[in-house]
Amino acid sequence: MIESPEQAINVWDFERVAHANNLPEHWAYIHMGVDDFETRKANREGFQRLMLRPRRLGQDATKLDTSVELFGRKWDTPLFLCPVAALEAYHTEGESGAARAARARKILQIQSNSSSQSYEAIAEARGEPHWFQIYTVPDWSMNKKLIDHVAAAGCPALVWTIDLLGGSNRELSRRSLGSQEYDRPLCQNCHNHKPGYQRPMRRGLDGPPGPRPPYTWDYVKRIKDATSMKLLLKGIVTREEAELAVEHGVDGVFVSNHGGRAENSLRSTIESLPEVVAGVRGRVPVLIDSGVRRGADIFKALALGADAVGIGRPYVWGLGAFGQQGVDKVIELILAEFRMTMRQTRTTAIDQIVPSFVIEGRTPIMMRDNRLGFGL
Ligand SMILES: Cc1cc2nc3c(=O)[nH]c(=O)nc-3n(C[C@H](O)[C@H](O)[C@H](O)COP(=O)(O)O)c2cc1C
Repeated sequence: MIESPEQAINVWDFERVAHANNLPEHWAYIHMGVDDFETRKANREGFQRLMLRPRRLGQDATKLDTSVELFGRKWDTPLFLCPVAALEAYHTEGESGAARAARARKILQIQSNSSSQSYEAIAEARGEPHWFQIYTVPDWSMNKKLIDHVAAAGCPALVWTIDLLGGSNRELSRRSLGSQEYDRPLCQNCHNHKPGYQRPMRRGLDGPPGPRPPYTWDYVKRIKDATSMKLLLKGIVTREEAELAVEHGVDGVFVSNHGGRAENSLRSTIESLPEVVAGVRGRVPVLIDSGVRRGADIFKALALGADAVGIGRPYVWGLGAFGQQGVDKVIELILAEFRMTMRQTRTTAIDQIVPSFVIEGRTPIMMRDNRLGFGL
C-alpha cells in the first residue's frame, strides 16, 4: 500500500488506500455497479478489446499539443473530472480539494447536483466557474430555481443526467446501508436523516413528492428554453438518441452508463461511442466516460470520435487516499500515459488521433486482481 501520492505508479494504487481510509458503507457506494457489476466490468473490457495500431516512424513527436476546444473555450487536455456525488464522504476537502487539483492541472470539472459543497465554494477553490450536473425533480419550479442559481453564479454549461430516470438496482449499496445505524453522530453530520439537512445545492429545492414528468423530448426543450447555458445530455448511448438530441438543440452529447451504475446493459460506453458519433455527425461535441483508467483509454476514445474523456472513480480514489494531492497525482499519471501513447503513435495533436489507430481485437486478456473486487 502506498504511503504518499508520489509513490503511485498507476491509478489503482490509490484505490486500495481509499478503501482502507473510508467507511465500508461509503466504499460500497463508490465501488458498486448495478446487479452483479457486469456493466462496470464491461466498461473495462470494452477498452481492453480495442487494440492500438501505432506508427513507428514519421513526424517528430517530442512536442505535443494536447489542447481541445469546447464551446469556444480552450483546455490543455481532453481529460475532465466527472460529477460524483458527496465528495466529503471520501475526504474532508471534498469537491474543493478536487477543484484545486483540477485548477492546477487546468482541466475541466463537472460538479454533481448532489455535491457536499456549494457551487460558490467550489468555484472559489477553482478560481473560475465550472460546469454543473442536474438531476431533475417532479416540480419544475424547483428545477428552474436550481438552473437560475448556477447560471447566476456564472456556470457556462449544464449537464442533465438522464440515465437514472428509470431507477437502478444497486444491491451492494442497499445491503450495506441496511446494516448501517444512521443515528450514529458521524452519519448524521451529512445524511438527510438529520432533521432539516439537505445537500447544499438541493436546500429547499426538493419540493413535494409527486408523479415524475413523462420525460419526453419536450422536456429537453423546456430546459433549453429556460437557460442560456450550454445544455448537454449525460447518458446517451445510441445513434437514434444522439440524432434526436442534436435535433432538439442540445449543445453536447455525453456518452455514459454512469460507470455501470444505471441499467445493466452489459455494453461498454466505448462500444456505444461509434454509433453516437455517427448520429452526432460532428455537429456538437461528444464527451465520454465510464471505465477510463489509462492514458491509452483516452487515446482510444479520441480515435473513435470523442472530444473529451472523463474519469469518475479514479479521481475519487485519489481524493479518498490523499485529498487534493491524490487527485493531482491521478490526473498526472493518466495524462503522462496519454502523452506516451501519443508519442508511441507519432501523433502530435488531438486532431491527428483518428480511427485507423485502433482496431477491434480479441476478448480481454486479463482483469486486474479481480478476485478481490479491486482493479476495475
Ligand atoms: C460514487 C459515485 C457517485 C456518482 N454520482 C453522480 C452524480 O451525482 N451525478 C452524475 O451525473 N453522475 C454520477 N456518477 C457517475 C459519474 O459521473 C461517471 O459517469 C462515472 O463515475 C464514470 O465511470 P468511472 O467511475 O468508471 O470512471 C457517480 C459515480 C460514482 C462512482
